[in-house]
Amino acid sequence: MLEQFLETSDEWITERTGIKERLVISSEKLEDLAVIAANKALEDANLKASDIDYIICSNVVNEYVTPALSCIIQGKLGATCPTVDINAACAGFLFALDMADDKLNAKKAKNILIVCAEEPSRMVSWQNRSTSVLFGDGAGAAVVTEGDALKAIRLTTSSLTEVLYYQRKLEPTPYISKEENFEPLVMKGREVFKHAVTSSCRDIRKLLNQTGLEPDDVKYYVLHQANLRIIESIRNFLGVDKERVPHNVDRYGNISSAALPALLDELNRAGKLQKGDKLVFSAFGAGFTTGACIIEWAK
Ligand code: ACO
Repeated sequence: MLEQFLETSDEWITERTGIKERLVISSEKLEDLAVIAANKALEDANLKASDIDYIICSNVVNEYVTPALSCIIQGKLGATCPTVDINAACAGFLFALDMADDKLNAKKAKNILIVCAEEPSRMVSWQNRSTSVLFGDGAGAAVVTEGDALKAIRLTTSSLTEVLYYQRKLEPTPYISKEENFEPLVMKGREVFKHAVTSSCRDIRKLLNQTGLEPDDVKYYVLHQANLRIIESIRNFLGVDKERVPHNVDRYGNISSAALPALLDELNRAGKLQKGDKLVFSAFGAGFTTGACIIEWAK
């Protein structure tokens, strides 16, 4: 389909990214995907919307600047708790998990719903072959509750704003005199690639050291799904087998912060997770933000 309007090929995309299929928003609204994901997570956790004490939504862009997407989701779910949106780009799930952990530890909440909902297909120029072939749209959600499943977590931000950015056009006013250049998503692909691999390996190694775990003690490495070559590079540097590093980037492309909960859900529904399994999560995104954690599956 892309070959009809872009100078690209299935061969190039497959070889350089590992992506074979993607789902992008057409007639749907992002909040509807978010609500479907949230309801599945609630059902899986055996909870009702009224049991949720706080909703954290990870989102980079959607049709609304305000209200926050989490407010829209709350209404559609029929929840009544406070909500907040965060934007840590593709690492958003880890930043949300860290916030949730703090609230649970402070006894300010018992059940927190994290919803990651993203439509990066609306940030790129579909005339730009370097970016438009990479992203898909989607949502993933998780309910987190009290317990000691989170063994270690690490977040970082380095202000590398020029390697990956998207500016949204604001309304003109009679008073604006500065020059404003609004352009679709700008990405220095190779730099992002290097930062992604280096930071993910660094974060994972630090967490393994901190918890005294060996790489093979981890059942699955749930890595951000940006590009199969990035995933493979991280796997090679860590020296772990392919079976421990699942992926679905071939089917969804890069769905930003929704990638981790979506992959976790696939593993869970496929019956691949057992109580006591150690899981590593690691993600990186625009900012540059990175997040990683080790959890012990407690279900
Ligand atoms: N089809 C065909 N050719 C293409 C395409 C395309 N879609 N895109 C680029 N090319 C060409 C380039 O023009 C270049 O041609 P040239 O050598 O004549 O100049 C050639 O292919 C190689 O281009 P590179 O950019 O060097 O290709 P590379 O192997 O680095 O792959 C890619 C590019 C896929 C973008 C890679 O750098 C990458 O995956 N980077 C990380 C991207 C990423 O994960 N971003 C998300 C981060 S998370 C977030 O928060 C959004």
